[in-house]
Amino acid sequence: MVSLLTAFKRRFVGETSCSLASGLSLSDFPSNFAFIRVFSGEYLYLFSVPVTNPYESEKILAEYLLFHYGADDEILGKIPGPREALSFPRRSVSELIGPMQRDACALDLGCAVGRSTFELARYAASVTGIDFSASFIAAAQELKTAGQIESSRRIEGDLTAPFTAKVPAGIDPSRVTFETGDATILRPDLAGFDAVLAANLICRLPEPCKFLDRLPQLIKPGGQLLLTTPFTWLEEFTPRANWLGGDGLRSFDALKDILSPHFELQMSKDLPFLIREHERKFQYGVALGSRWLRR
Ligand SMILES: C[S@@+](CC[C@H](N)C(=O)[O-])C[C@H]1O[C@@H](n2cnc3c(N)ncnc32)[C@H](O)[C@@H]1O
Repeated sequence: MVSLLTAFKRRFVGETSCSLASGLSLSDFPSNFAFIRVFSGEYLYLFSVPVTNPYESEKILAEYLLFHYGADDEILGKIPGPREALSFPRRSVSELIGPMQRDACALDLGCAVGRSTFELARYAASVTGIDFSASFIAAAQELKTAGQIESSRRIEGDLTAPFTAKVPAGIDPSRVTFETGDATILRPDLAGFDAVLAANLICRLPEPCKFLDRLPQLIKPGGQLLLTTPFTWLEEFTPRANWLGGDGLRSFDALKDILSPHFELQMSKDLPFLIREHERKFQYGVALGSRWLRR
């Protein structure tokens, strides 16, 4: 119970309160609270947690659905933006993945609304997508079951246009499963994958090393680790003491030091990405993509 609570506390700003559920109803709490129900002995405990995780907001959900599933023109329109930065969630798989066996199983950590998870299903017989955001996973699950989900694209201010996110043709959704989870405290039975993707995840983790330390167990010998990261360290996500590198050491060199006992670096390349906020505002970044072979 304590570790579950600690996991939530690490991810949200503010005090977590714990109360016995008896006599309480959900309407007693403001809507920006999330709830964890935990049975202990004969009691049901209800933890209320103030939600400040940006990846739970409706605005970011709509931006990520467009980022993952939008057509080039739905994202950029006639704006003279960097077209090579489009389709990042597809390219983070297609431009990094090496040869895979037909019966391979893959894991996508920090999968958000699931586009890269679906893309991995072009190469693997089964793929699990895990993300900390319940809203993202609910949307990914809806895409798996219904094939599409209604959302919107922001034009400016409060003006939006309808947008339908769809699983691309040629992908078998039955190969894919989604679940919520924390990449730094994964359940112990997750192990021995042929491929693990973590796209733009590590600089969003409070403890990136905890995640990196688990990788040798997650990936079977001969399996692949696909990483992308722009190394955008921010104290709101990662305490400064946990940033990779520092004191003159570059983050990628720190990553090599950590991974090299168990992984061989096979290739690396720049992977630009573009996230639309509204018709005339975008986040442009260039992730460093890398493929590592589990020794
Ligand atoms: C920058 S986004 C990248 C999403 C996706 N991989 C992509 O490339 O579009 C970071 C993602 O990591 C998720 N995340 C953050 N902390 C996490 C954790 N501890 N475990 C699993 N996912 C986490 C967020 O919810 C978000 O979906």
